[in-house]
Amino acid sequence: MTSFSYTAGPARVVFAPGAVRHLDLDVRRLGATRVLLLSGGRHAEAVEQALGPLLVARFEGAVMHTPVEVTEQAMAELRDSAADCVVALGGGSVINLGKALALRTDVPQIAVPTTYAGSEATPVLGETADGRKTTQRSPAILPEVVVYDVYLTLTLPVAMSVTSGVNALAHAVEALYSADANPITDQLALEAIRRLARGLPQIVSDPSDVSARSDVLQAAWLAGTCLGTVGMGLHHKLCHTLGGSFGMPHAETHTVVLPHVMAYNAAAAPDVMRRIAEALGVDDAPGGVHDLIVRLGGPTSLRELGMAFDDLPRAAELATAQPYPNPREVTADGVLRVLEEAWTGERPQGGSAVPKLTAQVVASFDDAPPRLRVLLQDLVRTLHSYAVRTDLTESEWLSAITFLTRTGQISSDTRQEFILLSDTLGVSSVVDLLTNSRSPDTTPSAVLGPFYVDGPPARPHGVDIAEGLPGVPLWVDVRIVDTHGTPVSDATVDVWQANEDGFYDVQLPDLDGPVLRARFRTDADGRLTFWTILPAAYPIPDDGPVGAMLTATGRHQFRAPHVHFMIAKPGFRTLVTQLFVQGGEYLDSDTVFGVKDGLIVDFVEQQGPTPDGRAVDSWRKVDFVFRVSQGV
Ligand code: BEZ
Ligand code: FE
Repeated sequence: MTSFSYTAGPARVVFAPGAVRHLDLDVRRLGATRVLLLSGGRHAEAVEQALGPLLVARFEGAVMHTPVEVTEQAMAELRDSAADCVVALGGGSVINLGKALALRTDVPQIAVPTTYAGSEATPVLGETADGRKTTQRSPAILPEVVVYDVYLTLTLPVAMSVTSGVNALAHAVEALYSADANPITDQLALEAIRRLARGLPQIVSDPSDVSARSDVLQAAWLAGTCLGTVGMGLHHKLCHTLGGSFGMPHAETHTVVLPHVMAYNAAAAPDVMRRIAEALGVDDAPGGVHDLIVRLGGPTSLRELGMAFDDLPRAAELATAQPYPNPREVTADGVLRVLEEAWTGERPQGGSAVPKLTAQVVASFDDAPPRLRVLLQDLVRTLHSYAVRTDLTESEWLSAITFLTRTGQISSDTRQEFILLSDTLGVSSVVDLLTNSRSPDTTPSAVLGPFYVDGPPARPHGVDIAEGLPGVPLWVDVRIVDTHGTPVSDATVDVWQANEDGFYDVQLPDLDGPVLRARFRTDADGRLTFWTILPAAYPIPDDGPVGAMLTATGRHQFRAPHVHFMIAKPGFRTLVTQLFVQGGEYLDSDTVFGVKDGLIVDFVEQQGPTPDGRAVDSWRKVDFVFRVSQGV
């Protein structure tokens, strides 16, 4: 089941050939009687006629990117005419100006779009002040009424129809891989793409084809709805930067940039690209969009739009100054490459190469044994997608291989650097959680670590496993029960820990024999007791590549103080865990992510007599009941 939420804009939409003839009714329905008409000139007469005496003022000064100075002039017109309604007739710039007025005054708006920009369907306003473009979102910005009259689009010049149509295509494309994508906007977007792919070539061959114009106008509405409903990605951000900071023309820039951003994102959103390709009726979505634009005679390079090559690095920097959602990580280098490709305008190449390669490698494991197949095929997909999403460079990948080589080289029978790597990346704890979460009524487990030695010396209850090493004496009194609380007798309990300086015996070659490690057996009550010393925090081995990784990334190497336990009995699942000293250092930042709340225990300070009469000044005591489950 898919779960999602979808918020529809509250606008009334009229989609009818000749609908502008009844604009006066729409004005009156809003309770308004005085209209300020914003227009770019085209079709103004038809609208003026329809409005009749309701029209009290006109403003024809709207320009691209909605500079605030122009908005101020229109505001003066609105005030002077005491208009109570704005009709915005035109493309994105005129409609944006209407929105800018509504944001400032909440005046009701009727948008009558004559292009395919889709701005009328969004509660979003982009404005430019001091060469910087900003956008804001507010319910006041959304026009109350939108009138789509296909007759008004018949005279839209072919070149503008193409770039404006590709602008709509860009909304649909980015909606499909948006972080907020949902099944409703997916359907709107795919339908928009189908109508654009069908309608735009027909418009190019016959600009007055009403049915093709109607297809594309509907696509503009659908794509505009997507734009107003879900967040856009790299493409919109980039076009926004090129428009706001470099004065590049809006729809033309969208047209040039779209296939290149799609190629950049393709491997990170393979399923979306497949659906786009299907809707376009092509094999490869980015290449297909490029081919469509060429066929339509649209612009294909930033160079022909007048962009200076030397401005590309600054544009890349500006477009990546703030993070935003995009299927593939947005890096200044990556964006610069996109811009360079868009500047020259070649057909995007990389788009389908990686998914094809990934599919090939995945298929090469088709005949592996079932579980191995799942593990390896997913590993390949994950690794390929990681390389794409992070824009992995050759030298970075070589560093990673060198790192892994050193990890292997330093490993031996007594030094397992790969486990340390797994531990410090949290993978050991993830696998541990996956295993343990299957039996939630048992004691949580914790990583084994590299210092366990199989077959520790068997010891009787009550013994001191510290064998005279300095430290605060610690009396350990634990019980093992099953998930019903029944004692588990005759279980093997291996115990091991570091000394008060944070070293295990295996790290101290001068020590004679195993110390601070032992094997006990539980009695009929499932109990065992022994003396040891309070464990200290300690650094994990940091003289290898894992230590270098921690240092290079500003992480510390310390583990919170703990005692290890491994509890085993035939017929029970072996429990490998640790008890952590409450109040100890690094509980919140254990470098191997091994601490779990249920394992932090009060190692209680004690004065006075000890349980077995041993003479010590002050000592600590820890009581704990381990729950183990039956099974294998
Ligand atoms: C340990 O607790 O012994 C340990 C666990 C993971 C990495 C290093 C040490
Ligand atoms: Fe340890």
